[in-house]
Amino acid sequence: MSERFPFSIPNGWFQIAYSDELEPGGVLPLHYFGQDLVLFRAEGGEVALLDAFCPHLGAHLGHGGVVDGDRIRCPFHAWEFDTRGACRNVPYARKVPPKAKVAPWNCAERNQIIWAWHHVEGVAPTWEIPDVPEVSSDDWTALERHRWTVRTHNQEIGENAVDRAHFRYVHGTTNVPESELELDGHIRRAIQHVHMSTPHGEVKGRIKVEAHGMGCTITRFTGICETVLLLSHTPIDGGSVDSRFSFTQRKADQKTGVAAGVIKEVVRQMNQDIPIWEHKKYLPKPMLCDGDGPIPEYRKWASQFYH
Ligand code: FES
Ligand SMILES: [Fe+2]
Repeated sequence: MSERFPFSIPNGWFQIAYSDELEPGGVLPLHYFGQDLVLFRAEGGEVALLDAFCPHLGAHLGHGGVVDGDRIRCPFHAWEFDTRGACRNVPYARKVPPKAKVAPWNCAERNQIIWAWHHVEGVAPTWEIPDVPEVSSDDWTALERHRWTVRTHNQEIGENAVDRAHFRYVHGTTNVPESELELDGHIRRAIQHVHMSTPHGEVKGRIKVEAHGMGCTITRFTGICETVLLLSHTPIDGGSVDSRFSFTQRKADQKTGVAAGVIKEVVRQMNQDIPIWEHKKYLPKPMLCDGDGPIPEYRKWASQFYH
């Protein structure tokens, strides 16, 4: 828990890399969830995420570790660990210490993204990341990526989506969007009818938002230009988040400037939210009024990710 927020790091699936950032045999040192981690891809293609530090004398496996087959070899004394973190070989010892193990993490690869499952009590995944068919379709563009490091907590970023009034006063949308909220276990759905300003004038559209926990939101824009946006927000620690937006658009809609305008507008709105989030205080008992969105409902839904 950080000093700024009365929450721990949420449980769930979170993006830790894009698939193409890790070739077979590749190794990446990562720092997420307040922990040092190593991500590697076995030569056969499987991805593995482990705690970073070798149990022998503490080297960081992500700095100089080498993949050999389905194992990562420590840069310090060449102990070898498999994709589940078990030590399989100590090249200068007759016997591998039976308890030599690095803690493994559950990870998955879907929609050209590598995901890690974080749970404070080590509970195994209780849901799966959904498949987004547009990402692998030839009729849709390659993912356009945007990324920010934001000094906030996932709780606050999620709340932004249900905070109806801010759309008008922070983002300058011409109406306060109507939205229908549906809470369904770990999934939060909302449909918003918005008026967006683009370089080609104002357009009316529909935004369908589907949040799978606190780390993965799939947003579909229709009526403006068919766009799918994968929003991922990964806790770096209790007070900062690595946010990635990945857009794909129907290639048939690319001819006009509207498609690029939609992306530009979403990115502009993110840049407007950031200074508010970075400087605001989290109020457990906010003073709400009747024009506000379903903030209490959102907070109740979000509370399931903290135990
Ligand atoms: S610290 Fe890793 S093998 Fe010695
Ligand atoms: Fe916003």
